[in-house]
Parts: sequence; structure tokens; C-alpha cells
Amino acid sequence: MLTRNPHLARLKSRYLFSEIGRRRREFADAHPGVRVISLGIGDTTEPLVAPIVAAVRERAAAMGTREGYAGYGDEQGLTALRQKIAEVVYRGQVAPEEVFVSDGCKCDIGRLQLLFGPAAHLAVQDPSYPAYVDSAVITGMTGDLIEARGQFAGITYLPCHADNGFFPVLEAIPHRSLVYFCSPNNPTGAVATRAQLTQLVTAVRERRGVLVFDAAYSAFIRDEGLPRSIYEIPGAREVAIETSSFSKPAGFTGVRLGWTVVPRDLRYEDGAAVHDDFNRIVTTVFNGASVFAQAAGLAALGPDGLAATRRQIDHYMGNARLIRETLEQAGFKVFGGVNAPYLWARIPGKTSWEAFDELLYQAHVVATPGSGFGPAGEGYLRFSAFAHREDVEEAIGRLRRVFAKPGS
Ligand code: MLT
Repeated sequence: MLTRNPHLARLKSRYLFSEIGRRRREFADAHPGVRVISLGIGDTTEPLVAPIVAAVRERAAAMGTREGYAGYGDEQGLTALRQKIAEVVYRGQVAPEEVFVSDGCKCDIGRLQLLFGPAAHLAVQDPSYPAYVDSAVITGMTGDLIEARGQFAGITYLPCHADNGFFPVLEAIPHRSLVYFCSPNNPTGAVATRAQLTQLVTAVRERRGVLVFDAAYSAFIRDEGLPRSIYEIPGAREVAIETSSFSKPAGFTGVRLGWTVVPRDLRYEDGAAVHDDFNRIVTTVFNGASVFAQAAGLAALGPDGLAATRRQIDHYMGNARLIRETLEQAGFKVFGGVNAPYLWARIPGKTSWEAFDELLYQAHVVATPGSGFGPAGEGYLRFSAFAHREDVEEAIGRLRRVFAKPGS
């Protein structure tokens, strides 16, 4: 028999959202007939908008003809889509050849870890999207889990909490690290300012590291003064990779389409282009995104697609407002939910999992325990704004009842 990959063995618990799903199913089995509402995983709920549906139909019809049929395409994605992303999302700040179309950010995070290998040192915001740390563990970048601290040895955790405005102390970033940074942030909903991202780019450059900037939620930024891409920051092309997605802005969590930008200016210590290695990885372990997903992506970035998906984002942001007001009225300190679809609520006197269970068992509402995103998330719950409006209205009614302050 083969021995188990020792790096995988280090992952002591299930992936966060799998564990939440397990607890939810356990509750449902024990309480048949109770309707649970999820404000947990950030999974979109609203139907695909008409221009996208029309484009996929058209592509499907073409695939049924000799002339329109397509087999394998370029692993990096359709040229037209790479051009569209460069033009519409980046306004020419990146070249189409620097865009690698993929099946989503999470998959790209796994592929990016291959790029730097087990010897790389990871620095992450704490709390952060669990795929950064877990895929680094699988790649062999870390030591064992230090149970008492809830941290893996060999990773630098950069605490982001209310007192530092959820922006880490940059001096703590070690030299030559691979730094993951997400803005708008999952889970805290914090959005870094232009000045903060400028400091971040400078810090990573001075330390001769590489920044992986996760911009999956950039379409939720409504404040014109806030940067949506790291490439809006001078000098970022020499230090930063950006990964992003159609999942949340266009409802593609099931369709699966994202991209990663690796600028040609990003170089290794020996001057070789990181871009060429990423190209090598992509062409080796990926066969390109589905033709239907790419047709959908092209439609999402057309004028009608952009207008329709913007209305959908407005819907989710309306949900965020309702959830935020309810939690604040219940006396909780709440962050995020303004230029981001996540709300980060401090639940005093309870661990995150205690608060999760209380909410599930008393309100039949699922949120995400903050500690699942890292030790600095302990004592918080994350609420997602991705839900139907009637479910949000029902959920906030239940929250009001459960959190009703005595005498109110
Ligand atoms: C989340 O809820 O954090 C995300 O939706 C999960 C994901 O994007 O994989």
C-alpha cells in the first residue's frame, strides 16, 4: 500500500464549508420539517441574467453543428475573453496574454501554490479565506498545526482586527514571502484604500516577495475612491498576481469561471518570468474552461450583461443593508457589508462555533463561524448577503426574536 501524503495528513479537520454542511445536515436530520436559512457560504442565489442565458443557448446550439463545434481550446482561455477581461475589467492595465481564464479563483489558488512550491513562505491575513492556508498545507509549505494557537507552523499570520481597521501591520511580513491579500475582504468585508494598497505593494517589493491579490469581490465596491484591482497601484505589475472570478458578480458559482493575471513584469530572483511558469502549469494540469462558461463570461462583460449583473449586485447589497441594520439593532458591532457582500459581527461572550450552534438551533439560520477563517476570527460570525430577499426577511425576523434584548 502507498503511504499517505504527510502534508494532507496535517489537515486535521474538514474544509470549513464542508464542516458547516455536515452540521447543517445533522441538524436537519434531527429536526425534520424545520426550514433552515443559509447566510453561511457565499453562494449566489439569483438566476442568471437574460443576456448570459441567451449567449449560452446560442453557444449550445452552435456546438450541435459541424461549423460551430469546438473541441479543446487554448488552456489559457478564448482570445476574445482574455481581451474582454483586459479591456473591461482592467481598462488596458494588463495585456490579454497576461490573463489566464480558469474554472474559478479557488482552483487557481491551488495552481498558484504549485508555482512557488513547498519551500515558499506564506504570509496571510488572519482571518482569511481558508483555501489559502489549506492549499499551502497540502503543497507542503507548512509544518504541523499548533493546536493551542490554531495556526500552522511555518506560516506568518497577519492579524486583522477592528483595532487596526482590518489592515495588517506590514512590518510583520517576512522577507521573500508569498503574501495573500483579499480586498474586498472575505470574511471581514473590509476594503483596503488606495493608500493602504500602495503601502502593501511597497512592503512586498522591499521584501522581495510576491503578492497574490484576491479581487473576487471587487464588483461589490460602489465607492468610486476605492481601488478594485491591485494594478491600479503603481509598481504592482512587478510584484503582484491577481486572481478574480465571475462567481459572485455574475452568479457563476455553478457555471465556474474565473481568471488569474500574471504580469510579464513579475520576475523570479534569477530574472525568469513567473508568467511562463504559470503558463506551463496551466497547460499541464488544466484543459481550459468550458466553452459554455466562456460564452457566458463574454456575455457578462458585454454592455447588457454588465447592466443586468449590476442590478443583481444591488439586490445582494440591499440584503447586506437589511442584515447589518438588524444585527446593529440587536446591539452587535458589525463590520463590512457596505462595499462587500459579507458582514462580520462580533458576538461577545461566545466562541464562534458556540454562536454558530446557537443561531442554528434557535433561529434555524446558518452563518459562518469566524474562527474557521483563522484564530483572529474567534468570537465573530460572518453573514453572507447572498440569498433571496424573502429568505433574508425571514432570517432577520428570526434573528430579531433570538437576539431580542430584555426589555426591548
Ligand atoms: C465563501 O463563502 O467564503 C466563499 O463563497 C466560498 C468560495 O468562494 O469558495
